[in-house]
Amino acid sequence: MTTALSSQATAATAPAPLDSAALYERVKRVIPPMEWPQHAGLVADVLKLKRERNAVVLAHNYQTPEIYHCVSDIVGDSLALARRATESDAEVIVMAGVHFMAETVKLLNPEKTVLIPDAKAGCSLATAITGADVERLRTAHPGVPVVTYVNTTAEVKAAADICCTSGNAVKIVESLGCDEVIFIPDEYLASYVARQTKVKVISWHGHCEVHERFTGEEIQRYRENLDDVVIVAHPECPPDVLDASDFVGSTAEMISYVKREQPKRVVMLTECSMSDNVAAEVPEVEFTRPCNLCPHMKRITLDNIRQALLTLEPRVEVPEAIAEKARASVQRMLAVR
Ligand code: 13P
Ligand code: SF4
Repeated sequence: MTTALSSQATAATAPAPLDSAALYERVKRVIPPMEWPQHAGLVADVLKLKRERNAVVLAHNYQTPEIYHCVSDIVGDSLALARRATESDAEVIVMAGVHFMAETVKLLNPEKTVLIPDAKAGCSLATAITGADVERLRTAHPGVPVVTYVNTTAEVKAAADICCTSGNAVKIVESLGCDEVIFIPDEYLASYVARQTKVKVISWHGHCEVHERFTGEEIQRYRENLDDVVIVAHPECPPDVLDASDFVGSTAEMISYVKREQPKRVVMLTECSMSDNVAAEVPEVEFTRPCNLCPHMKRITLDNIRQALLTLEPRVEVPEAIAEKARASVQRMLAVR
């Protein structure tokens, strides 16, 4: 198992203004010609509205190809999106991702209008723990610092000491200089971190409903049926899956690995749109797509991005009572390089 612990964002190439044929070129390997007319008009509308609203679209690696490749200004993993969100001069930021990602953007850009096209785009990890749970953990383990995965609500970030993402979790844990940390809420990410550090990791029982479904047996079948297949996994997968994989990393690290190594055949053990997004750019690599879909990420569509830009709703707001502490947890993470 090879691992990587850095994170990257890619500035999506600026879309050619309203040139449908040029935009289709970007996605032609993963969107059949008969499907493109369904998207083309909406893509044109979103590009026009972005200019009128002085808006940018940030897209997580799990967004569908027509969003990721055709209307996004910045694409990346959750760490990269958090970092890059502060670099834009736009007045409006649309988060094509899930609610906790939009909250992080709002924490870092309190003066900007931050939109999430569907406010119900949640995350099974973010609902796995509350601020009160964090306080109970602190009582049970006095003096032990709390590291929270960014896949949590602002309330939980406010109750923690520092955030981390899958791209920097080990570095963040070690940056604290303690013998012991409380690491919430993903049990599998916690066990992945624990195996790479001497720091004792106290975990919580949250799981990602997408990654917890991958199994070691599934990997074995891929290896039996596909010669030379390379298995690349996200650290939210169960430990036996990570053990059986060739590379483990955040979504951005998985993409970099595939682009760099150009394996003949690859299975990406993560949300299924990510394979489509990489396949659109790397024609030499053959992808087997185990389609574990994130229903929360899939709430975001071209249609509701357009609607959000038209109405400037739904807006993401973080109550001032928790924003200051939550922001501090995120900023402490961003200060660790
Ligand atoms: P990344 O931080 O690797 O982008 O992962 C976010 C996520 O939600 C994974 O399921
Ligand atoms: Fe949450 Fe998992 Fe969906 Fe990521 S893939 S947003 S961790 S439920």
